[in-house]
Amino acid sequence: MKRIAIIPGDGIGIEVTREAVRALETVRERGGAALEIKHFDWGAEKYLREGVTMPEGSLEMFERDFDAIFTGAFGDPRVPSNKHAADILLGLRFGLDLYINLRPVRLLHDRFTPLKGRTRADIDFIVFRENTEGAYVNAGGVFKRGTLDEIATQEEINTRRGVERIIRAAFEYARRHGRRRVTLADKSNVLTYGHELWRRVFKLVAAEYPEIEANAQYIDAMAMFMVLDPGQYDVIVTNNMFGDIITDLGAGLQGGLGLAASANLHPGRVSLFEPVHGSAPDKAGRGVANPIGAIATAAMMLDYLGYTAAARSLERAIEAACEAGEVTADLGGNLSTDEAGRAICSRIA
Ligand code: NAI
Ligand code: MG
Repeated sequence: MKRIAIIPGDGIGIEVTREAVRALETVRERGGAALEIKHFDWGAEKYLREGVTMPEGSLEMFERDFDAIFTGAFGDPRVPSNKHAADILLGLRFGLDLYINLRPVRLLHDRFTPLKGRTRADIDFIVFRENTEGAYVNAGGVFKRGTLDEIATQEEINTRRGVERIIRAAFEYARRHGRRRVTLADKSNVLTYGHELWRRVFKLVAAEYPEIEANAQYIDAMAMFMVLDPGQYDVIVTNNMFGDIITDLGAGLQGGLGLAASANLHPGRVSLFEPVHGSAPDKAGRGVANPIGAIATAAMMLDYLGYTAAARSLERAIEAACEAGEVTADLGGNLSTDEAGRAICSRIA
């Protein structure tokens, strides 16, 4: 029995999580996975009402009582500081040391990609984004704030340990999943200290995986090649900020943010699963959000929990619904979030 914590969050996070939970419950009913599901009402509403973002002792509770956490999205116009989102999401990522942000970029149907003439065979790679250091550690400061002499620094932290473990995770994944190539994305030509470390460690780790081709690209060149020749990518490994940016580009290649899934992992520990998109206040409450990113994320979670066959069955159900055109408006369909979710659930084997 695997124990799952569900935190729908805000806006469309709540709507798409409902469909992901429906998919998990369908898998459970059909005997594909033994799951115990518990809901948490953390988000903007609770923060505004009670001033609480993530209650004291939550990290310990998750480590003790759960195998996985599923979140929708956090962000609400009534909380311009985004404090609850930072406390909960970054709190979980950093607090649980979830150093791998795994983001698959896989085309579900040829018609979804905006790239002319590209097919499913061309767009199928996976990004390993470092998730606990880099430019997102909030190191830096301001001096003479608000004056014309103001100085603002923002430091990027690259540790030998941090760089090595994410690179190793990428190669291990490639080995286990029969991927042929791992590509490092950095900017070592100008970030000559931090990113030179990435290059050196990449070379060292790559030597332990002789059967896997290893190459390195500058991030700007990669942005171009991802559009011109996405078929060359198998596994990409990169730092926190570049991974953040390049995976939105990846989501674009797939056909939009509504399709993109992600996992925040620390192998062997409680891990966090979330669709890539945010709370989309422009679409919230209208029942038009695409649930596929959330449901594909649920499939990643099942896979992580060891329910591989159930994960594949869910992925096939998503593909079949796409094939049938039973999708939301962002993909050219006319179904609501609820109907699109049910269209997938009805196809789970
Ligand atoms: P967003 O991802 O919410 O929306 C970007 C665009 O994509 C919007 O036009 C939206 O309508 C569309 N979109 C996103 N998901 C969709 C879906 N499932 N189906 C159909 N269309 C979809 O990003 P945005 O607008 O930058 O941020 C909105 C709020 O979400 C902000 O408060 C932001 O801080 C928060 N956010 C939270 C994230 C998280 O919790 N992981 C990630 C990104 C943003
Ligand atoms: Mg992002």
